[in-house]
Amino acid sequence: MSVSDILDGKLTEKEVEMKGWLVTKRSGGGVQFLMVRDGTGTIQATVHKDEVSKKVFSDADKLTQESSIKIKGLVKEDKRAPGGYEIRIKDLQIIHLAEPEYPLGKKEHGIDFLLGFRQLWVRSPRQVAILKVRAEIVKACRDFLDERGFTLTDSPILTPAAVEGVATLFEVPYFGDKAFLTQSGQLYVEATIAAFGKVYCFGPTFRAEKSKTPRHLTEFWMLEPEMAFYTFEDNLKLQEELVTYIVKTVLEKRKRELETLKRDLKPLEKVEPPFERISYTEAIEMLQKAKYPIQWGEDLGAPHERFISLKFEKPVFVHRYPAKVKAFYMQPDPKNPEVALCADLMAPEGYGEIIGGSERIHDLKLLEQRIEEFGLPKKAYEWYLDLRRYGSVPHSGFGLGLERTVMWICKLKHIRETIPFPRTITRIYP
Ligand code: 4AD
Ligand code: MG
Repeated sequence: MSVSDILDGKLTEKEVEMKGWLVTKRSGGGVQFLMVRDGTGTIQATVHKDEVSKKVFSDADKLTQESSIKIKGLVKEDKRAPGGYEIRIKDLQIIHLAEPEYPLGKKEHGIDFLLGFRQLWVRSPRQVAILKVRAEIVKACRDFLDERGFTLTDSPILTPAAVEGVATLFEVPYFGDKAFLTQSGQLYVEATIAAFGKVYCFGPTFRAEKSKTPRHLTEFWMLEPEMAFYTFEDNLKLQEELVTYIVKTVLEKRKRELETLKRDLKPLEKVEPPFERISYTEAIEMLQKAKYPIQWGEDLGAPHERFISLKFEKPVFVHRYPAKVKAFYMQPDPKNPEVALCADLMAPEGYGEIIGGSERIHDLKLLEQRIEEFGLPKKAYEWYLDLRRYGSVPHSGFGLGLERTVMWICKLKHIRETIPFPRTITRIYP
Protein backbone atom coordinates (compact mmCIF):
# COMPACT_ATOMS: atom_id res chain seq x y z
CA MET A 1 0.00 0.00 0.00
CA SER A 2 1.03 3.59 -0.42
CA VAL A 3 -0.04 6.94 1.00
CA SER A 4 -1.29 7.98 -2.44
CA ASP A 5 -3.71 5.00 -2.39
CA ILE A 6 -5.03 6.19 0.98
CA LEU A 7 -5.43 9.77 -0.26
CA ASP A 8 -7.21 8.45 -3.35
CA GLY A 9 -9.76 6.87 -0.96
CA LYS A 10 -8.93 3.29 -1.90
CA LEU A 11 -8.22 2.00 1.61
CA THR A 12 -10.84 3.63 3.82
CA GLU A 13 -11.69 1.56 6.94
CA LYS A 14 -8.96 -0.91 6.01
CA GLU A 15 -6.06 -1.90 8.23
CA VAL A 16 -2.76 -0.92 6.65
CA GLU A 17 0.92 -1.24 7.37
CA MET A 18 3.39 1.29 6.05
CA LYS A 19 6.98 2.40 6.31
CA GLY A 20 8.07 5.99 6.04
CA TRP A 21 9.61 9.07 7.59
CA LEU A 22 8.33 11.47 10.23
CA VAL A 23 7.80 14.94 8.79
CA THR A 24 6.35 16.75 11.83
CA LYS A 25 4.84 15.90 15.17
CA ARG A 26 2.59 17.68 17.63
CA SER A 27 0.59 16.48 20.60
CA GLY A 28 -2.35 17.48 22.73
CA GLY A 29 -5.00 15.89 24.93
CA GLY A 30 -3.49 12.40 25.00
CA VAL A 31 -3.12 12.28 21.22
CA GLN A 32 0.02 12.57 19.13
CA PHE A 33 -0.35 13.74 15.58
CA LEU A 34 2.38 12.45 13.28
CA MET A 35 2.73 13.53 9.67
CA VAL A 36 4.32 10.62 7.84
CA ARG A 37 5.79 10.57 4.34
CA ASP A 38 6.39 7.45 2.24
CA GLY A 39 7.53 8.88 -1.09
CA THR A 40 4.07 8.85 -2.66
CA GLY A 41 2.52 11.40 -0.30
CA THR A 42 2.16 12.58 3.28
CA ILE A 43 -0.53 11.43 5.68
CA GLN A 44 -1.59 12.19 9.22
CA ALA A 45 -1.25 9.32 11.66
CA THR A 46 -2.63 9.64 15.18
CA VAL A 47 -1.52 7.85 18.31
CA HIS A 48 -4.22 7.82 21.01
CA LYS A 49 -2.95 7.12 24.52
CA ASP A 50 -5.93 4.93 25.40
CA GLU A 51 -5.69 2.84 22.19
CA VAL A 52 -2.04 1.76 22.14
CA SER A 53 0.48 0.15 24.47
CA LYS A 54 2.57 2.30 26.79
CA LYS A 55 5.66 1.49 24.71
CA VAL A 56 4.07 2.60 21.45
CA PHE A 57 2.94 5.87 23.00
CA SER A 58 6.35 6.62 24.50
CA ASP A 59 8.15 5.61 21.26
CA ALA A 60 5.92 8.01 19.34
CA ASP A 61 6.77 10.68 21.89
CA LYS A 62 10.50 10.10 21.32
CA LEU A 63 10.33 10.54 17.56
CA THR A 64 12.53 13.21 16.04
CA GLN A 65 12.01 14.81 12.65
CA GLU A 66 13.00 12.49 9.77
CA SER A 67 13.06 9.36 11.93
CA SER A 68 12.11 6.30 9.90
CA ILE A 69 9.24 4.22 11.23
CA LYS A 70 6.90 1.34 10.53
CA ILE A 71 3.27 1.79 11.51
CA LYS A 72 0.13 -0.31 11.52
CA GLY A 73 -3.37 1.10 11.85
CA LEU A 74 -6.83 1.75 10.52
CA VAL A 75 -7.52 4.21 7.70
CA LYS A 76 -10.25 6.71 8.61
CA GLU A 77 -11.83 9.44 6.59
CA ASP A 78 -11.42 12.67 8.57
CA LYS A 79 -12.16 16.09 7.15
CA ARG A 80 -9.91 17.79 9.72
CA ALA A 81 -6.84 15.87 8.54
CA PRO A 82 -4.75 17.36 5.72
CA GLY A 83 -5.78 15.42 2.61
CA GLY A 84 -8.99 14.20 4.28
CA TYR A 85 -7.69 10.86 5.65
CA GLU A 86 -5.71 9.62 8.62
CA ILE A 87 -4.26 6.43 9.98
CA ARG A 88 -5.24 5.57 13.57
CA ILE A 89 -2.15 3.85 14.79
CA LYS A 90 -2.32 0.48 16.56
CA ASP A 91 1.36 -0.31 16.42
CA LEU A 92 4.52 1.67 15.78
CA GLN A 93 8.12 0.59 15.41
CA ILE A 94 11.13 2.86 15.19
CA ILE A 95 13.48 1.82 12.39
CA HIS A 96 15.94 4.67 12.90
CA LEU A 97 15.71 7.47 15.40
CA ALA A 98 17.09 10.48 13.55
CA GLU A 99 19.63 12.69 15.29
CA PRO A 100 17.99 15.69 16.94
CA GLU A 101 18.32 19.13 15.33
CA TYR A 102 17.49 18.30 11.71
CA PRO A 103 19.53 20.86 9.74
CA LEU A 104 16.50 21.91 7.70
CA GLY A 105 14.19 22.19 10.72
CA LYS A 106 11.58 24.85 10.95
CA LYS A 107 13.37 28.10 10.14
CA GLU A 108 13.43 29.74 6.74
CA HIS A 109 16.71 29.12 4.96
CA GLY A 110 18.57 30.96 2.22
CA ILE A 111 19.05 29.27 -1.12
CA ASP A 112 22.79 28.68 -0.68
CA PHE A 113 22.19 26.97 2.64
CA LEU A 114 19.53 24.75 1.08
CA LEU A 115 21.71 23.85 -1.90
CA GLY A 116 24.52 22.91 0.48
CA PHE A 117 22.09 20.46 2.09
CA ARG A 118 20.55 19.26 -1.18
CA GLN A 119 20.85 15.67 0.07
CA LEU A 120 18.18 16.52 2.68
CA TRP A 121 16.37 19.37 0.90
CA VAL A 122 15.38 16.96 -1.86
CA ARG A 123 12.88 15.43 0.64
CA SER A 124 10.78 18.56 0.99
CA PRO A 125 7.26 18.49 -0.55
CA ARG A 126 8.04 21.21 -3.08
CA GLN A 127 11.21 19.52 -4.28
CA VAL A 128 9.44 16.17 -4.43
CA ALA A 129 6.69 17.72 -6.56
CA ILE A 130 9.19 19.26 -9.00
CA LEU A 131 11.16 16.06 -9.39
CA LYS A 132 7.97 14.04 -9.90
CA VAL A 133 7.05 16.40 -12.74
CA ARG A 134 10.56 15.99 -14.13
CA ALA A 135 10.23 12.20 -14.10
CA GLU A 136 6.83 12.45 -15.79
CA ILE A 137 8.29 14.68 -18.53
CA VAL A 138 11.10 12.19 -19.16
CA LYS A 139 8.57 9.38 -19.50
CA ALA A 140 6.34 11.48 -21.77
CA CYS A 141 9.31 12.23 -24.07
CA ARG A 142 10.23 8.58 -24.34
CA ASP A 143 6.65 7.38 -24.79
CA PHE A 144 5.98 9.99 -27.47
CA LEU A 145 9.00 9.04 -29.55
CA ASP A 146 8.85 5.28 -28.95
CA GLU A 147 5.23 5.23 -30.09
CA ARG A 148 6.20 7.04 -33.29
CA GLY A 149 8.77 4.51 -34.38
CA PHE A 150 11.90 6.21 -33.03
CA THR A 151 14.81 4.09 -31.79
CA LEU A 152 16.84 5.15 -28.77
CA THR A 153 20.54 5.23 -29.65
CA ASP A 154 22.68 6.59 -26.82
CA SER A 155 25.44 9.04 -27.68
CA PRO A 156 28.82 8.93 -25.91
CA ILE A 157 29.67 11.35 -23.12
CA LEU A 158 33.44 11.35 -23.69
CA THR A 159 34.03 12.84 -27.12
CA PRO A 160 36.88 14.03 -29.36
CA ALA A 161 35.31 17.31 -30.55
CA ALA A 162 32.96 20.24 -30.00
CA VAL A 163 29.35 20.38 -31.20
CA GLU A 164 28.21 23.76 -29.92
CA GLY A 165 31.32 25.94 -30.01
CA VAL A 166 34.75 25.50 -28.46
CA ALA A 167 34.20 28.17 -25.78
CA THR A 168 32.13 25.97 -23.47
CA LEU A 169 34.04 22.68 -23.63
CA PHE A 170 34.99 20.75 -20.51
CA GLU A 171 38.32 19.07 -21.11
CA VAL A 172 39.23 15.80 -19.42
CA PRO A 173 42.58 14.01 -19.45
CA TYR A 174 42.34 10.82 -21.49
CA PHE A 175 45.26 8.42 -21.16
CA GLY A 176 47.91 10.88 -22.21
CA ASP A 177 45.55 12.53 -24.68
CA LYS A 178 42.57 14.78 -24.05
CA ALA A 179 38.84 14.31 -24.45
CA PHE A 180 35.79 16.54 -23.92
CA LEU A 181 32.56 16.02 -22.07
CA THR A 182 29.83 16.10 -24.68
CA GLN A 183 27.92 19.34 -25.29
CA SER A 184 25.26 17.51 -27.31
CA GLY A 185 24.75 14.00 -28.66
CA GLN A 186 23.63 15.36 -32.00
CA LEU A 187 26.53 14.34 -34.23
CA TYR A 188 26.15 10.72 -33.15
CA VAL A 189 22.40 10.54 -33.74
CA GLU A 190 23.13 11.97 -37.19
CA ALA A 191 25.14 8.77 -37.69
CA THR A 192 22.49 6.39 -36.39
CA ILE A 193 19.67 7.79 -38.58
CA ALA A 194 21.28 5.97 -41.51
CA ALA A 195 20.80 2.74 -39.55
CA PHE A 196 17.34 3.37 -38.06
CA GLY A 197 15.66 6.29 -39.86
CA LYS A 198 14.29 8.06 -36.78
CA VAL A 199 16.31 8.04 -33.58
CA TYR A 200 16.90 9.92 -30.36
CA CYS A 201 19.37 10.14 -27.54
CA PHE A 202 18.57 11.35 -24.06
CA GLY A 203 21.36 11.96 -21.63
CA PRO A 204 23.47 14.39 -19.69
CA THR A 205 25.31 17.09 -21.62
CA PHE A 206 27.92 19.53 -20.38
CA ARG A 207 28.73 23.16 -20.99
CA ALA A 208 31.40 25.20 -19.27
CA GLU A 209 29.02 28.19 -19.40
CA LYS A 210 30.73 31.10 -17.75
CA SER A 211 27.41 32.87 -17.32
CA LYS A 212 25.84 32.71 -13.87
CA THR A 213 22.16 32.95 -14.77
CA PRO A 214 18.90 31.48 -13.47
CA ARG A 215 18.65 29.24 -16.55
CA HIS A 216 22.12 27.79 -17.04
CA LEU A 217 23.53 24.61 -15.58
CA THR A 218 26.95 23.19 -16.41
CA GLU A 219 25.43 19.68 -16.51
CA PHE A 220 21.95 19.31 -17.97
CA TRP A 221 19.88 16.69 -19.77
CA MET A 222 18.90 16.94 -23.37
CA LEU A 223 16.44 14.97 -25.49
CA GLU A 224 17.77 14.89 -29.05
CA PRO A 225 15.60 13.42 -31.79
CA GLU A 226 17.11 13.19 -35.28
CA MET A 227 15.16 12.24 -38.39
CA ALA A 228 16.33 11.18 -41.86
CA PHE A 229 14.51 12.89 -44.74
CA TYR A 230 12.78 15.41 -42.42
CA THR A 231 12.58 18.92 -43.76
CA PHE A 232 12.85 22.04 -41.63
CA GLU A 233 9.04 22.25 -41.58
CA ASP A 234 8.59 18.54 -40.63
CA ASN A 235 10.96 19.21 -37.74
CA LEU A 236 8.86 22.09 -36.36
CA LYS A 237 5.67 20.01 -36.57
CA LEU A 238 7.24 17.22 -34.55
CA GLN A 239 8.38 19.71 -31.88
CA GLU A 240 4.89 21.18 -31.59
CA GLU A 241 3.37 17.77 -31.12
CA LEU A 242 6.00 16.67 -28.61
CA VAL A 243 5.71 19.78 -26.45
CA THR A 244 1.91 19.58 -26.50
CA TYR A 245 2.06 15.91 -25.51
CA ILE A 246 4.43 16.67 -22.63
CA VAL A 247 2.22 19.45 -21.25
CA LYS A 248 -0.99 17.43 -21.59
CA THR A 249 0.57 14.42 -19.89
CA VAL A 250 1.78 16.48 -16.93
CA LEU A 251 -1.61 18.18 -16.62
CA GLU A 252 -3.32 14.81 -16.56
CA LYS A 253 -0.94 12.78 -14.41
CA ARG A 254 0.67 15.33 -12.08
CA LYS A 255 -2.26 17.47 -10.94
CA ARG A 256 -1.43 16.99 -7.28
CA GLU A 257 2.18 18.10 -7.80
CA LEU A 258 1.17 21.17 -9.83
CA GLU A 259 -1.20 22.02 -6.99
CA THR A 260 1.62 21.70 -4.44
CA LEU A 261 3.61 24.12 -6.60
CA LYS A 262 0.58 26.45 -6.86
CA ARG A 263 1.05 26.41 -10.62
CA ASP A 264 -1.57 28.42 -12.55
CA LEU A 265 -2.86 25.83 -15.02
CA LYS A 266 -4.53 28.20 -17.48
CA PRO A 267 -1.42 29.07 -19.53
CA LEU A 268 -0.55 25.36 -19.77
CA GLU A 269 -4.05 24.43 -20.89
CA LYS A 270 -3.63 26.71 -23.91
CA VAL A 271 -0.66 24.77 -25.29
CA GLU A 272 -1.80 23.23 -28.57
CA PRO A 273 -0.55 23.15 -32.17
CA PRO A 274 0.00 25.17 -34.21
CA PHE A 275 2.55 27.35 -32.43
CA GLU A 276 3.21 30.84 -33.80
CA ARG A 277 6.31 31.28 -35.99
CA ILE A 278 8.26 34.49 -36.35
CA SER A 279 11.53 34.99 -38.16
CA TYR A 280 14.64 36.23 -36.40
CA THR A 281 14.38 39.35 -38.55
CA GLU A 282 10.83 39.98 -37.30
CA ALA A 283 12.01 39.39 -33.75
CA ILE A 284 14.74 42.01 -34.18
CA GLU A 285 12.16 44.49 -35.50
CA MET A 286 9.90 43.85 -32.50
CA LEU A 287 12.81 44.35 -30.14
CA GLN A 288 14.03 47.51 -31.81
CA LYS A 289 10.51 48.94 -31.72
CA ALA A 290 10.55 48.32 -27.97
CA LYS A 291 13.88 50.22 -27.77
CA TYR A 292 16.17 47.25 -27.16
CA PRO A 293 19.65 48.21 -28.41
CA ILE A 294 20.09 45.17 -30.65
CA GLN A 295 21.21 44.99 -34.29
CA TRP A 296 20.49 42.42 -36.99
CA GLY A 297 23.29 39.88 -36.79
CA GLU A 298 23.54 39.71 -33.00
CA ASP A 299 22.36 36.64 -31.10
CA LEU A 300 19.31 36.94 -28.88
CA GLY A 301 20.03 37.01 -25.16
CA ALA A 302 17.87 36.14 -22.19
CA PRO A 303 16.12 39.57 -21.94
CA HIS A 304 15.27 39.47 -25.67
CA GLU A 305 13.87 35.97 -25.44
CA ARG A 306 11.90 36.96 -22.39
CA PHE A 307 10.38 39.93 -24.21
CA ILE A 308 9.34 37.82 -27.20
CA SER A 309 8.07 34.98 -25.07
CA LEU A 310 5.80 37.38 -23.15
CA LYS A 311 4.23 38.58 -26.42
CA PHE A 312 2.67 35.16 -27.09
CA GLU A 313 0.29 32.97 -25.15
CA LYS A 314 1.67 29.72 -26.53
CA PRO A 315 5.23 28.60 -27.26
CA VAL A 316 6.60 30.46 -30.28
CA PHE A 317 9.26 29.49 -32.85
CA VAL A 318 11.89 32.06 -33.77
CA HIS A 319 13.37 30.83 -37.03
CA ARG A 320 16.11 31.64 -39.53
CA TYR A 321 18.81 33.16 -37.34
CA PRO A 322 21.94 34.54 -39.00
CA ALA A 323 24.11 31.53 -39.82
CA LYS A 324 27.07 33.29 -38.17
CA VAL A 325 25.61 33.17 -34.64
CA LYS A 326 24.57 29.51 -34.89
CA ALA A 327 26.41 26.18 -35.11
CA PHE A 328 28.55 25.03 -38.07
CA TYR A 329 26.28 22.14 -39.11
CA MET A 330 23.12 24.13 -39.94
CA GLN A 331 21.72 24.10 -43.46
CA PRO A 332 21.62 27.59 -45.01
CA ASP A 333 18.25 28.82 -46.25
CA PRO A 334 18.34 28.39 -50.06
CA LYS A 335 16.40 31.67 -50.39
CA ASN A 336 18.92 33.58 -48.29
CA PRO A 337 22.14 31.77 -47.33
CA GLU A 338 22.91 34.47 -44.73
CA VAL A 339 20.38 32.77 -42.47
CA ALA A 340 20.14 29.15 -41.34
CA LEU A 341 17.18 26.76 -41.50
CA CYS A 342 17.01 26.70 -37.73
CA ALA A 343 14.50 27.57 -35.04
CA ASP A 344 14.52 28.03 -31.30
CA LEU A 345 11.31 27.32 -29.46
CA MET A 346 10.50 29.93 -26.81
CA ALA A 347 8.31 28.81 -23.93
CA PRO A 348 5.66 31.37 -22.88
CA GLU A 349 5.37 33.33 -19.61
CA GLY A 350 8.81 34.83 -20.14
CA TYR A 351 10.74 31.56 -20.12
CA GLY A 352 12.45 31.74 -23.51
CA GLU A 353 14.37 29.01 -25.32
CA ILE A 354 13.64 25.40 -24.39
CA ILE A 355 14.47 23.84 -27.78
CA GLY A 356 17.15 24.51 -30.38
CA GLY A 357 16.85 22.71 -33.71
CA SER A 358 17.67 22.84 -37.40
CA GLU A 359 17.94 21.15 -40.73
CA ARG A 360 21.53 19.87 -41.11
CA ILE A 361 23.96 20.37 -43.94
CA HIS A 362 24.00 17.17 -45.99
CA ASP A 363 26.41 18.25 -48.72
CA LEU A 364 30.01 17.17 -48.12
CA LYS A 365 31.70 20.20 -49.74
CA LEU A 366 29.57 22.71 -47.88
CA LEU A 367 30.10 20.97 -44.56
CA GLU A 368 33.86 20.87 -45.08
CA GLN A 369 33.79 24.55 -45.87
CA ARG A 370 31.83 25.37 -42.72
CA ILE A 371 34.18 23.33 -40.51
CA GLU A 372 37.02 25.38 -41.90
CA GLU A 373 35.21 28.72 -41.53
CA PHE A 374 34.47 27.92 -37.90
CA GLY A 375 38.15 27.13 -37.30
CA LEU A 376 37.38 23.56 -36.18
CA PRO A 377 39.99 20.77 -36.37
CA LYS A 378 38.89 18.82 -39.45
CA LYS A 379 40.60 15.62 -38.31
CA ALA A 380 38.27 15.27 -35.33
CA TYR A 381 35.26 15.43 -37.68
CA GLU A 382 36.42 12.97 -40.36
CA TRP A 383 34.04 10.31 -39.07
CA TYR A 384 31.18 12.82 -39.23
CA LEU A 385 32.07 13.77 -42.80
CA ASP A 386 31.78 10.09 -43.74
CA LEU A 387 28.03 10.46 -43.17
CA ARG A 388 28.02 12.85 -46.15
CA ARG A 389 30.11 10.47 -48.23
CA TYR A 390 27.94 7.37 -47.90
CA GLY A 391 24.21 7.74 -48.39
CA SER A 392 23.81 11.34 -47.32
CA VAL A 393 20.20 12.55 -46.99
CA PRO A 394 18.52 15.79 -46.01
CA HIS A 395 17.78 15.48 -42.32
CA SER A 396 16.74 17.50 -39.29
CA GLY A 397 16.66 17.28 -35.54
CA PHE A 398 16.49 19.23 -32.33
CA GLY A 399 17.51 19.31 -28.71
CA LEU A 400 14.99 19.86 -25.92
CA GLY A 401 16.53 21.00 -22.64
CA LEU A 402 14.90 18.94 -19.93
CA GLU A 403 15.58 21.33 -17.05
CA ARG A 404 14.38 24.37 -19.01
CA THR A 405 11.18 22.47 -19.76
CA VAL A 406 10.69 21.50 -16.11
CA MET A 407 11.38 25.08 -15.07
CA TRP A 408 8.67 26.41 -17.37
CA ILE A 409 6.04 23.76 -16.65
CA CYS A 410 6.55 24.12 -12.88
CA LYS A 411 6.91 27.90 -13.29
CA LEU A 412 10.14 28.14 -11.29
CA LYS A 413 12.31 31.21 -10.92
CA HIS A 414 15.55 29.26 -11.07
CA ILE A 415 16.75 26.16 -12.91
CA ARG A 416 18.66 24.78 -9.90
CA GLU A 417 15.51 23.15 -8.45
CA THR A 418 14.77 21.16 -11.63
CA ILE A 419 17.46 18.50 -11.21
CA PRO A 420 18.23 16.31 -8.18
CA PHE A 421 21.81 17.57 -7.77
CA PRO A 422 22.43 20.77 -9.74
CA ARG A 423 25.84 21.65 -11.13
CA THR A 424 26.55 25.33 -11.69
CA ILE A 425 29.74 27.35 -12.05
CA THR A 426 29.74 27.97 -8.32
CA ARG A 427 28.55 24.59 -7.09
CA ILE A 428 29.75 20.99 -7.37
CA TYR A 429 28.90 19.95 -3.76
CA PRO A 430 27.09 17.78 -2.70
O1 4AD B 1 20.42 25.16 -28.50
P1 4AD B 1 21.39 24.10 -28.06
O2 4AD B 1 22.75 24.50 -27.77
O3 4AD B 1 21.31 23.01 -29.21
C1 4AD B 1 22.10 21.91 -29.33
O4 4AD B 1 22.88 21.51 -28.50
C2 4AD B 1 21.81 21.08 -30.54
N1 4AD B 1 23.01 20.30 -30.87
C3 4AD B 1 20.63 20.20 -30.26
C4 4AD B 1 20.20 19.38 -31.45
O5 4AD B 1 19.81 19.94 -32.45
N2 4AD B 1 20.27 18.07 -31.33
O6 4AD B 1 20.78 23.37 -26.79
C5 4AD B 1 19.52 22.77 -26.84
C6 4AD B 1 18.74 23.07 -25.59
C7 4AD B 1 18.43 24.55 -25.38
O7 4AD B 1 17.32 24.95 -26.10
C8 4AD B 1 18.20 24.58 -23.88
O8 4AD B 1 16.87 24.16 -23.59
C9 4AD B 1 19.16 23.54 -23.36
O9 4AD B 1 19.46 22.69 -24.44
N3 4AD B 1 20.38 24.15 -22.83
C10 4AD B 1 20.66 24.29 -21.52
N4 4AD B 1 19.94 24.00 -20.42
C11 4AD B 1 20.49 24.27 -19.22
N5 4AD B 1 21.71 24.83 -19.06
C12 4AD B 1 22.47 25.14 -20.14
N6 4AD B 1 23.68 25.65 -19.95
C13 4AD B 1 21.94 24.88 -21.44
N7 4AD B 1 22.40 25.06 -22.69
C14 4AD B 1 21.43 24.61 -23.53
MG1 MG C 1 20.28 27.22 -28.52
